[in-house]
Amino acid sequence: MKNKIEKIYADASADIAKAAATSDLEEIKNKYLSRGGEFNAIKKGLKDLSDEDKRTVGALANEITQKLEAALAAKHDEFYAKELDEKLITEKLDITMPGKFSAEGRIHPITNTINEITAIFESLGFSVVANELSPEVDTEYYNFDALNIPFEHPARDVQDTFYTAAEGGRQVLRSHTSGSQVRAMEAKKPPIKVISPGRVYRNETVNSRKNNFFHQIEGLLVDKDITFGDLKGVLNEFVYAYFGMPKAGAAGVGLREQGEQGSIVSVRPTRFRNSFFPFTEPSAEVDVQCIMCAGAGCRTCSGTGWLEILGAGMVHPNVLKGVDIDPDVYSGFAFGMGVERLAMLKYAIDDIRLFFQNDVRFLKQF
Ligand code: DAH
Repeated sequence: MKNKIEKIYADASADIAKAAATSDLEEIKNKYLSRGGEFNAIKKGLKDLSDEDKRTVGALANEITQKLEAALAAKHDEFYAKELDEKLITEKLDITMPGKFSAEGRIHPITNTINEITAIFESLGFSVVANELSPEVDTEYYNFDALNIPFEHPARDVQDTFYTAAEGGRQVLRSHTSGSQVRAMEAKKPPIKVISPGRVYRNETVNSRKNNFFHQIEGLLVDKDITFGDLKGVLNEFVYAYFGMPKAGAAGVGLREQGEQGSIVSVRPTRFRNSFFPFTEPSAEVDVQCIMCAGAGCRTCSGTGWLEILGAGMVHPNVLKGVDIDPDVYSGFAFGMGVERLAMLKYAIDDIRLFFQNDVRFLKQF
């Protein structure tokens, strides 16, 4: 029995000497010292020995166990320190390395501008008509005829409008959002108070100011007793909400105040110029005081101090009659604005093409 113990001690010591890592030590410990290990098997045999032998062999077994445990522990400390050093070197984290960034999505500036403008009109009681009400591929009836635009009008020329072959005859890529006025009046009887944003197409030579597609927002209000004064009030409110306060010290700047008829006067000066559109009478083009130079005259406003931002007018009686609304009972106003133009003015962007090239260096700025 003693010999067996000595033999195990010799084998175990040899194994320990050969061990190269803490994982080897675990194996050795398992093989010799665990419950099911070789040493335990011997210890179980002790009970069959004489009392005398029990004492001496037992003492030897204990001594050897302790020696092995001590040898294993010493080796373990040695290996552990070495392995830790290696880990510290190989798993070193360089906190000066640049991190990994994933590109972050954003709302396109045109979508953003449409959202901002529609929110302003919603706050004034307008509701947005659904896109189904105003398709991008439309009939000539909605894009032209129903809007009192005569057959010989130059806008109908293929130089200005894209035509497309469609079932039941040719159709147009809508050249403006004004057709949605007609659809809104067909769908609902007055009072009507809607805006309709969307993409429009024109057969233009593309340059920094013109693209062959862009976006418009159409507005329409029809009710009893609607006057040009209502049109001015709503559009002045819009200008104030969209462009905000002019620079301090600019001409016409004052506190927001009540106008003569109790209407709110915009502190951002506007100018309503006489104009012509077949679907409105009277018609106007609306200018806002130049937001770059506050009216002093600069490159953006070509020295005039004013920027044209939209077309508007009182809905033409022929347009109302076309949708069975009696112009003797109802009146209304309409307006249409270019989204890109408004975004370019607000964010000082000098080339419309930037919106559609989708260069992230541009888009990232919004
Ligand atoms: N449809 C016109 C255009 O594309 C803009 C416009 C002018 C819309 C007057 C209107 C309006 O509703 O009343 O240039």
